[in-house]
Amino acid sequence: MFTNKTFLITGIADENSLAMFVAKKIIENGGQVICTGLGVSEFHNDLSDKAKQFLNVNYADFQKSVKNELGNSQTEILDVTLEANVDSFAKKLKDNNIKIDGFLHAIAMDKTIRQKVVKPILDVTKEEFCDTMEVSAYSLIRIAQYLYKYDLIQPNSSICSLSYIAAAKVTFHPYRNMSIAKAALERITIELADELGRKNGTRVNAIRFSPYMGSKAGNATLNQSDFDTADKLSPLGNATPDDLANEVIHLFRPNGRITGEIRHVDGGYNIMG
Ligand SMILES: NC(=O)c1ccc[n+]([C@@H]2O[C@H](COP(=O)([O-])OP(=O)(O)OC[C@H]3O[C@@H](n4cnc5c(N)ncnc54)[C@H](O)[C@@H]3O)[C@@H](O)[C@H]2O)c1
Repeated sequence: MFTNKTFLITGIADENSLAMFVAKKIIENGGQVICTGLGVSEFHNDLSDKAKQFLNVNYADFQKSVKNELGNSQTEILDVTLEANVDSFAKKLKDNNIKIDGFLHAIAMDKTIRQKVVKPILDVTKEEFCDTMEVSAYSLIRIAQYLYKYDLIQPNSSICSLSYIAAAKVTFHPYRNMSIAKAALERITIELADELGRKNGTRVNAIRFSPYMGSKAGNATLNQSDFDTADKLSPLGNATPDDLANEVIHLFRPNGRITGEIRHVDGGYNIMG
């Protein structure tokens, strides 16, 4: 299905990242992936030793998991908060004559969630609000901007982001600051669907997925009881990373007509009152 197609996969931290399940399925279906991960880059300034160590461990996990799960797929450092990094990454693809048939946005960060405890929205600082917004929502615009700047996006491509029901509803586990960023991510999805559809036929969609504790982000945020409650309330039980990957693959399929949708892959959780 994806012969001669190349997709950019952001958001792989390790083999348990949701993005990894998508990348594997693209390869299974004959496509190629370029994976980006967080690491120390030439664009970082004044990193503390602690930050450097965090990024180095992160990059080592990323590299190892890609090698183990995806063979010789191309890997690149990409920190979406560093505009020069995004620019240089996209320019490198251009210089190597690479064209992209779409990308997965699977990036989120919120420092107001620490060890599963979430700051009330009333206490969120402007810096915390803007940081979460930049990494988890604006980054979708920034990545698209630079891929278009260097003319890397093929006609009729497909872009997909990962969201969560908390973008629209107050959930039983108190996502607060992140909910706002997810709402913004979904709105950006819709605005881009209009603009990019008209520009070169590119589709842009988002998927709200069930709680998943296997990943670093999920494990840092969710309690087992959150997962179990969603599982019980959902008519089909929680969706799995494999279910999610199947849906992304469906949206990435060439010549689809679905765009500007916020889909649910959540075992039906969203229909419950
Ligand atoms: N785990 C869940 O329960 C769940 C549910 C619904 C949606 N999601 C969404 O799925 C996506 C992937 O999450 P995951 O659960 O696979 O966790 P994960 O920890 O594996 O992935 C999060 C990724 O964000 C990346 N990231 C953070 N800051 C970045 C930056 N400045 N630049 C580039 N990358 C950065 C991390 O490196 C990591 O790869 C996120 O958008 C998350 O909100 C997760």
